[in-house]
Amino acid sequence: MTPEDQKMLAVDFCGMKFNTPLVLLSGCVGFGEEYTRVAGFSNRDAGAICLKGTTLEPRLGNQPHRVYETPMGMLNAIGLQNPGARYVVDKILPALDFDETRFIANIAGSTLEDYVEVARIFDQSPVDAIEINISCPNVKAGGVAFGNDPEMSARVVEAVRAVTQKPLITKLSPNQTDVAGNARRCIEAGTDGFAVINTLMGMAIDIESRTPILGNNQGGLSGPAIKPVALLRTHQVYQVCKPHGIPIIGQGGITTAEDAIEFLIAGATAVGIGTALFYDPLVCPKVNAGIVAYLKRHGLTEVAQLTGTLVLNQNKPACTC
Ligand SMILES: Cc1cc2nc3c(=O)[nH]c(=O)nc-3n(C[C@H](O)[C@H](O)[C@H](O)COP(=O)(O)O)c2cc1C
Repeated sequence: MTPEDQKMLAVDFCGMKFNTPLVLLSGCVGFGEEYTRVAGFSNRDAGAICLKGTTLEPRLGNQPHRVYETPMGMLNAIGLQNPGARYVVDKILPALDFDETRFIANIAGSTLEDYVEVARIFDQSPVDAIEINISCPNVKAGGVAFGNDPEMSARVVEAVRAVTQKPLITKLSPNQTDVAGNARRCIEAGTDGFAVINTLMGMAIDIESRTPILGNNQGGLSGPAIKPVALLRTHQVYQVCKPHGIPIIGQGGITTAEDAIEFLIAGATAVGIGTALFYDPLVCPKVNAGIVAYLKRHGLTEVAQLTGTLVLNQNKPACTC
C-alpha cells in the first residue's frame, strides 16, 4: 500500500487518529497481543483494537461449551472471562505497542459502581478510549440488563462520563426495540461515540440429550448471519447521531471490503472486524485494499466521504411483508 493509499484510509474518530477505519472487536483479539503471533498479521492494519471486556474483579467465565459454529456465524457465551482491570492495566498494557494502533478498553460490570470503578482504573492508564459494554448477553447481571433499558444505559454513561475525560464509546445492544431512542439518551448522558451492534441472543440444542449446547444455555450470535440486522441498526442510530457529529463503529458480520463499505454508507465512521478473524486472521489488509480500490473507482479521496451517503428509495411501503 502506497503512502497515498494509507492517507485515503485514515479516519478521525472522537478526536483519535485511526490509520484505517478497521477496528478489531472486543473478545475476538484477546488483549491486543493474540494475533501478533500469526505470521503476516500486524496491528498496524487496524485503526484501533478493542480489548476483551474487563470487569473490576477477575472472572473465570461460563462453563463449556462456550462457542458453537452456526450457519454463517457463531454463538458464544464466554461470560466475560478476564483477569480484572488492575491486572490488565499493570501487566498487559505495558507490553502493548501504542505506536502501532489505538487501544480501546472495553468495560463491563454487574452494578453501576463496578462500571465506575473500572472506568476510573482505565482513566489512569494509557488506553486511548473507553468502550462501555452495556450489551453483553452472556452475564447474569449487568450487561444487556443495562443495555436494553434506555434509562439504565444513560445512567451508566453518565456515571462513567463523570470519572473520565477519555473518549467514551457506548456499545449498543441489538436485543432491544428502540435502539435509536436508547442512543438519544446516551448522547444526552455524554457519550462521544457508539459501537453498533453487539451480538444477538440465540440458542443451539443438542437433540440427543435435549439440552442447550452452550453451558450458559444461550449465547450471542455473531458473524455474517447478523449483518443485515447490524446494518439497519447502524442506519437507525446514524439518524440520531448525525446532527451531533457523533461517530459510529459499525459492526456485525463484516468479512469483506464490500461489507465494510455498506456499513460506511449506512452511517459508520469506522467498521469492526470480529468473527471474520476466526476464519481468516489476515483479513484486514484485504479489506483495507478493497476500500482503497472502491474509493479510487468512485473518484473519492478519503473514507469519510462515504459515511452516511445512503440514498433511500422514495417509495415507502406500508409494511415489509
Ligand atoms: C468470542 C466472542 C467474544 C466477545 N466478547 C465481547 C466482549 O468481551 N465485549 C464486547 O463488548 N463484545 C464482545 N463480543 C462482541 C464483538 O465485539 C462484536 O460486537 C460482535 O461479535 C459483532 O461483530 P462480528 O460479527 O464481526 O463478530 C464478542 C464476540 C465474540 C464472537
